Amino acid sequence: MKILGIETSCDETSAAIVERVSGRSSVKLLTNIVATSLTLHAKTGGIIPEVAARQQVEYIIPVVKKALVEANLYPRSSKIELLSSTFYRPEVDAIAVTVGPGLIGSLLVGVETAKTLSLIWNKPLIPVNHLIGHIYANWIRTIDHEPSTINFPAIALLVSGGHTDLLLMKSHGNIKWLGGTRDDAAGEAFDKIGRLLHLPYPGGPAIEKAAQKGDPKRFSFPRPMMQNPYFSAKDGPASGWDFSFSGLKSAVFREVQKTKKLDKQTIADMSRGVLDAIVDVLVSKTVKAASRYNAQSILLGGGVAANQKLTDQLQLSATHHRLNARIFVPQKSLCTDNAAMIATAGFFNYNVVDWKNISANPELYFDTAVS
Ligand code: KG4
Ligand code: ZN
Repeated sequence: MKILGIETSCDETSAAIVERVSGRSSVKLLTNIVATSLTLHAKTGGIIPEVAARQQVEYIIPVVKKALVEANLYPRSSKIELLSSTFYRPEVDAIAVTVGPGLIGSLLVGVETAKTLSLIWNKPLIPVNHLIGHIYANWIRTIDHEPSTINFPAIALLVSGGHTDLLLMKSHGNIKWLGGTRDDAAGEAFDKIGRLLHLPYPGGPAIEKAAQKGDPKRFSFPRPMMQNPYFSAKDGPASGWDFSFSGLKSAVFREVQKTKKLDKQTIADMSRGVLDAIVDVLVSKTVKAASRYNAQSILLGGGVAANQKLTDQLQLSATHHRLNARIFVPQKSLCTDNAAMIATAGFFNYNVVDWKNISANPELYFDTAVS
């Protein structure tokens, strides 16, 4: 079975094809094409939705075509139009598409393209929640990465530019939300603080790099909500599983104002302080959740999961707390937005919906109850 994935929720336009391999619990990645408008957004220090949507329109058909060509499902030199139903119908079994959350203009491009392809090629269509997609990047097998079997229950930490969520996954499709950020997402905090420190966009990788030469003792930034009590949703408010990062941004802002000269070393030292604070909070809550729910696996997902310090600290803390859980981190290129994770989520959650009933939903989120 082969699934074509399409992802256009933000500033990446991506199409990928994954294939089921018998006897294995992961799927094989045949191709993953990602076109990004990141350089355009770097100029403005952040994403302008209108600009991102226009780029999606420009990239989508060439990107889908390239994915099919690379997977040998479309002749390289063919003159046949991708949307010409009479002459061309690729050997894919289904199409999975991101329906939300994300920027409405960007989402619409992928959703309407997928609906059109589903109709003219007569292929089943699977709507996928982008956030769940990030978690499924852990099930992707590539030439240089073969994931081991992921056992349940699992705790998933989703850390992206728009979201920070802690999730309990009891089986495929059975994902419950434990808590999330009350204000800025972890990636958003990195991006906003990066701007305060005059670092290039996106801030996450830039802060990670600058922090390498930073002094960990010079700045100690707050670790918000780290000591809040942990309840399950059944017992009461699950505030202990929630996050808050906007105070950190304000703390950095105050330090920047106090600093007479924001030289290279000061930027490195502040970056180190910020990185340590964010990683500390994320690791502490993830480890507590894994212990509380006796997790067999901890799954990272989202752009911030590409952060090496996060993985290293998580591993150290899990060992220190003698957790049974094994830690899974997607390959770096599959941490940020891509269609491979969407195709994979569609494979493990094969919930086909008629194209007429599928629409983009920028506010899509998770179920909240923990049972
Ligand atoms: O998942 P993603 O590609 O897009 C969303 O769905 O939001 O995540 C993008 C976010 C950005 O905020 C970026 O700063 C952050 O991921 N990011 C990182 C790293 N690489 C990307 N944050 C920390 N360390 C990194 N190495
Ligand atoms: Zn994302």
